[in-house]
Amino acid sequence: MDRFQILGGSPLQGEVSVSGAKNAALPILCASLLTAEPLVLSNVPRLRDVSTMKKLLAQMGTRIETVAQQPDGQEQLSLHSDAMTHLQAPYELVKTMRASVLVLGPMLARFGEALVSLPGGCAIGQRPVDQHIKGLAAMGAEIRIEHGYIKAQARRLRGARIVTDMVTVTGTENLMMAAVLAEGTTVIDNAAREPEVVDLARCLVRMGARIEGAGTDRIVIHGVDRLGGAQHAIMADRIEAGTFLCAVAAAGGDVVVCQAQPDMMGATIEKLREAGVLIQEVAQGIRVVASDRPKPMNFRTAPFPGLATDMQAQLMAVAAVATGTSIITETIFENRFMHVQELRRLGADIEVDGHTAVVKGGAGLSGARVMATDLRASAGLVIAALVASGETEIDRIYHLDRGYDRMEQKLCAIGARVSRTTEKA
Ligand code: UD1
Repeated sequence: MDRFQILGGSPLQGEVSVSGAKNAALPILCASLLTAEPLVLSNVPRLRDVSTMKKLLAQMGTRIETVAQQPDGQEQLSLHSDAMTHLQAPYELVKTMRASVLVLGPMLARFGEALVSLPGGCAIGQRPVDQHIKGLAAMGAEIRIEHGYIKAQARRLRGARIVTDMVTVTGTENLMMAAVLAEGTTVIDNAAREPEVVDLARCLVRMGARIEGAGTDRIVIHGVDRLGGAQHAIMADRIEAGTFLCAVAAAGGDVVVCQAQPDMMGATIEKLREAGVLIQEVAQGIRVVASDRPKPMNFRTAPFPGLATDMQAQLMAVAAVATGTSIITETIFENRFMHVQELRRLGADIEVDGHTAVVKGGAGLSGARVMATDLRASAGLVIAALVASGETEIDRIYHLDRGYDRMEQKLCAIGARVSRTTEKA
């Protein structure tokens, strides 16, 4: 199992580039199931979750080729789903990555059947997929849960009006991918407005889909008989970009985060400005300058355009070194404070009461051995370690590798002292 060793205390300086967005790449890879023609994707980030999704699609029969290695280390892939052999997503893969459930909608829409393992529990919350199932049932699918699997069948899905009970990102994506090949018009109300949903819609439209309203809470999809191949470049990762902004906010320095798109990061930028960090839009992306300790900030996570739950741990690390007390409320997932225990090991003063964390800045952090518990929690620990005095060792860095492309290399290039140790199991 890999671990990071981080020597804290160096300010960050220079330029860092953001990779393609994990949460856009995963549904867009699944969109290749909707056509028998090749889908060519660029800016595909090198992440463990992307490898898992490629493995799942390949197991189902999709032929995946690397067309080119981009100069920035990312890949251009061609996915060709013309001869599918197994219309199934097995438990072994779904349990390692919940986003595997994104094959359900496209598989059912194109082939009229799908067998997808139900994801089990998750470290950050229960995360059921009832809204995905409810929406597909409203479109005429017959769905049974058998032996831990979702078994779905439909001759052809029919357009329907679907109102989801809560805003769900992958739920919206699954239903949108199902609706593009349904007969008639589907309306998804209370749809997720996340930029990754918009990027998926953009790719689907390139493939011939008719979609209106992506990016608003009502998406209207007019079904078509077939989709064709297309080329698409995955959008830049706003969470990776936000993580670098937080790293500079905490550790200090002057960094240009290239490819970062400020219009997709409004809530994070606003919070960091409140913390006294200078954030400027520049031609390459975003410049972030921090010379003093951050000021405290209060926030609640919320669906887009609110503050992303995927930024909560990183902002909490910034709050841990702020000059006063911050109040942070998590509203999306019920158990997303697991990084608190680990931040405390670094000397942070944090009290949790239900969904709210009270973070008292002031005390300096000092390096210790800590453990990564989930993807974004790991990023929060890395940020805290960059400021802590002495050395921090972060175990179970595989969580971080699910969603960050070569993070230690990117951080070292802007002056951090991070090294990876690989230990044979
Ligand atoms: C996606 C993101 C994840 C992010 C999350 C919230 C991907 C691959 N992952 O996860 O990084 O943290 O959005 O922005 O894009 N819910 C139900 N029933 C459902 C679906 C969701 O109760 O059928 C609940 C969840 O338990 C959670 C809330 O709705 O409390 C939001 O979850 P959702 O938006 O679906 O998260 P994901 O799509 O899994």
